[in-house]
Amino acid sequence: MKQINKIGVFTSGGDSPGMNACVRAVVRTAQKHDVEVVGIKEGYKGMVAGYFEKLTSFDVAGIIQRGGTILRSSRCPEFKTKEGRQQAYDNCKNQGIDALVAIGGNGTFTGALYFEEEFGIPTIGCPGTIDNDLFGTDYTIGFDTACNTVVKAIDQIRETAASHNRLFLVEVMGRDSGFIALNGCVAGGGEAVMLPEQHDDLPRLMQFLDEKSQHKIYSNIVVVAEGDEAGGAIQLEKVIKKEYPQYDVRSTILGHLQRGGSPTCRDRILASTLGYHAVEALLKGKRNMMAGEINNKVVLTSFRDSIEKTKALNTDLLQLSEILVA
Ligand code: F6P
Repeated sequence: MKQINKIGVFTSGGDSPGMNACVRAVVRTAQKHDVEVVGIKEGYKGMVAGYFEKLTSFDVAGIIQRGGTILRSSRCPEFKTKEGRQQAYDNCKNQGIDALVAIGGNGTFTGALYFEEEFGIPTIGCPGTIDNDLFGTDYTIGFDTACNTVVKAIDQIRETAASHNRLFLVEVMGRDSGFIALNGCVAGGGEAVMLPEQHDDLPRLMQFLDEKSQHKIYSNIVVVAEGDEAGGAIQLEKVIKKEYPQYDVRSTILGHLQRGGSPTCRDRILASTLGYHAVEALLKGKRNMMAGEINNKVVLTSFRDSIEKTKALNTDLLQLSEILVA
């Protein structure tokens, strides 16, 4: 096993609260082992363009509480080309980087998988995405903070919804997955939820609206995942307005405010734990894997599984979301 003297760390894809806590853990753990750390700015884009910066324990002081990512992030089309990855490898080599920690989601790990296969730089990933859609970890870094943001928003919307007897559609993030929507709905006491994973939620919503309307209950909250096949809150609003003129409908799209904010305690601890374990794993010769947490235990899952296998929604929570509606 080749000795690791310098680790490159980067954040990539959509930022998520807790990424900074993870970077801090990577830098400080590496330093305890006398391993240098280089921060790669703007994810794969910076790797291709050569945006590198040495990071010491002092450089990551005072960042654990900050949302976003001090390393900045991007989605990088150049890295999808062989030439782009070659350039990235040459830059890493010139910097003396002999291992990587990649903090991000699905796209980040897909890039890491190709990169490792082509150039052999050992890489360990930390799951950083608010979507929670990665196989191999119960929770991703940033998901808890995003859910708390959603719950706070629903609480506030409920006050105005009730005052005006209105039906509110609250659209939350989740292009392909309904984790934020389901958790936000249960914790926010939402009356219905629309999820990309379910294909019968529109007729069920219709039935629900029929029943409520018979009892003259018009103020309800429906949480809509952006990737739901109904097409998001705005599309759904049009359908409801047409079919149910008795409802006074409004939509709120929470959008990118779900991505920001100071990470919760849970996200800081998860990020710190996984950042630490990512470095420990590299130093033990592990590579091409994501560090996650399952049932409170740190587990390594191959990048391929973390990308290709689907993490199922919690069916108990799904059931609860239906049982607890008045
Ligand atoms: O993957 C995280 C995520 O926040 C998704 O939930 C959302 O669909 C997407 O990123 C938005 O991406 P962008 O910030 O590039 O518009």
